[in-house]
Amino acid sequence: MTLLNGKEIANQIKDEIAAEVGEMKIRGEKVPHLAAVLVGNDGASLTYVGSKVRSCKRIGFESTLKHLPEDTTEEDLLKLVSELNADPDIDGYIVQLPLPKHIDEEKVLLAVDPEKDVDGFHPTNFGKMALDMQSFIPATPFGIMELLKRYKVEVEGKHAVVIGRSHIVGRPISILLSQKGKYSNATVTLTHSRTKDIKALTLQADIIVSALGVPGFLTADMVREGAVIIDVGITRVPDASKERGYYITGDVDFEAVSKKASYITPVPGGVGPMTIAMLLQNTLLARKRRTRE
Ligand code: GUN
Repeated sequence: MTLLNGKEIANQIKDEIAAEVGEMKIRGEKVPHLAAVLVGNDGASLTYVGSKVRSCKRIGFESTLKHLPEDTTEEDLLKLVSELNADPDIDGYIVQLPLPKHIDEEKVLLAVDPEKDVDGFHPTNFGKMALDMQSFIPATPFGIMELLKRYKVEVEGKHAVVIGRSHIVGRPISILLSQKGKYSNATVTLTHSRTKDIKALTLQADIIVSALGVPGFLTADMVREGAVIIDVGITRVPDASKERGYYITGDVDFEAVSKKASYITPVPGGVGPMTIAMLLQNTLLARKRRTRE
């Protein structure tokens, strides 16, 4: 069994980006600038956004955090989005999800300039991705593809079973795995809450991507010997014995499933760190594309 060490690969990617930023600085070029918009004080979102901003500092990007109160109106958020679209200094930005209930998420995502949409959530980018055109690929699926590539995991011709059809992970990873390319060309089954007998499908899978957010969902009896396991679940389980008051766990019963898997991602330290690295990669791409204009 080989551990797909996302933390290590993410650090490698960050070092590569930092080296490129260093060269940009020497040439006197503007360095990439990422902005993050956070509305409210959701604990997980605060952690993610904080980590994104810290990573920017580490690799020499500029970063701006726009932290708005929970009761921000949709109108005020849309105003900020159009300011970010117009700001020539900002190369890319993200609006951290979920947004408070009184704000229409779809309306906000549609307002983001696709050229600055480093999350790849705008339909223009999603559509272009699906059509193999130049786009921004959402960071989590992009990170999974990069992890498979860097570990040279064979994907071509394999049967990949994706669990969960979210717009951020399940749906896009099902598209990317089935695209033409050396580390794709898989045959994909996309399963979801209405799928009959998921176990019958996972037992036929060479690769399983679980993006459900249900701790311990994927058990050893659902996995065949030698399967590649990608665990995208990041659930906070309350635990008074921990200093933070919780621990992080994935969708996969790691202890038992890792005994059967050929490759497996741990949680934490697997897909999570890759998401941040690929967001930074997208921001670098955004900067380069804007320079070429
Ligand atoms: N919420 C959970 N994952 C993500 C992400 O990748 N980007 C944003 N903007 N919000 C998220």
